[in-house]
Amino acid sequence: PQPVILDVDTGVDDALALLLAARHPALDLRAVTCTGGNAPLAQVVQNTLKVLDAAGAAPIPVAAGAHRPLLEAPQHAAAIHGADGLADLGLAASARTPEAVHAVELLRRTLTASAEPITLISLAPLTNIALLLRTHPEVRDRIARVVMMGGAVGTGNATAAAEFNVWHDPEAAAIVLGEGLDVLMYGLEPFYRVSVTHADVEALSAAHDPAPRLAGALLTHLIGIDATEERVADDRVAIGDAGAVCAAIDSSPLVTRVAPVEVALAPGATRGQTVVDLRTMEGADISAARAVPPATVVLDADPEPYRRLFLEA
Ligand code: BDR
Ligand code: CA
Repeated sequence: PQPVILDVDTGVDDALALLLAARHPALDLRAVTCTGGNAPLAQVVQNTLKVLDAAGAAPIPVAAGAHRPLLEAPQHAAAIHGADGLADLGLAASARTPEAVHAVELLRRTLTASAEPITLISLAPLTNIALLLRTHPEVRDRIARVVMMGGAVGTGNATAAAEFNVWHDPEAAAIVLGEGLDVLMYGLEPFYRVSVTHADVEALSAAHDPAPRLAGALLTHLIGIDATEERVADDRVAIGDAGAVCAAIDSSPLVTRVAPVEVALAPGATRGQTVVDLRTMEGADISAARAVPPATVVLDADPEPYRRLFLEA
């Protein structure tokens, strides 16, 4: 199995991603690091531990990391994720405890201890990963690639221009994208397209196993949110961050382009926008001097194989 670390801000759809990553046999989930984002950091940590319980996961190390972005004040998303960040389902407290070290240290240790390089799956503002790269640049070679749910080629969600994870900490995203790592940018285009049907959600909710039952309850919450999102078909609900885990498992349903991605950092309407340079005309790039490293950008995804992958796990 592919060794992975998840960086999360759990978060309803982060919870779906954790359930999938903990259960899918193609992945070896080595650690989970937490950042403030959808909910405040302490709540993100508790939510993550509860979801690992529901997944029936082995004792995977979990650590708390950045409680706020590098420059900005934190802004949480209770309107989407519920007051507790996890759809207010009233899940029982977990007996698991987080590691006594910062997420950056857990990332360093896990990467350094591994015989093979590890895939970082980032489902949250990129603060922890930016801090890791700046604090321990020597671990760069231990990172196989970064699969990041973040950014958008087109319209944003936190603002018209910006996707939430990048908008929440644009400087961190700029650091990670500017590093020249192998990055798969799984932005809002696949985020809203990879989905399950309402009938699937009913079947999950009726399951006996706590993992699909929790997935069903979380997706039921998201159906209400997606009802107002034109990018999700009427009889479906997006699996959000869990789609990025699907993409890490199997890239064959993806339509991608290798393109430079630059994060807009100036204050104002475009702050946090990911500017994806899709121009193809040779010699047209008068901005080559900016030396923006390319990322593999997901333009589209076939939802059906990922729907099956998610439901089977
Ligand atoms: C991203 O922000 C959060 O609301 C979701 O968990 C996802 O990671 C979507 O913009
Ligand atoms: Ca998230």
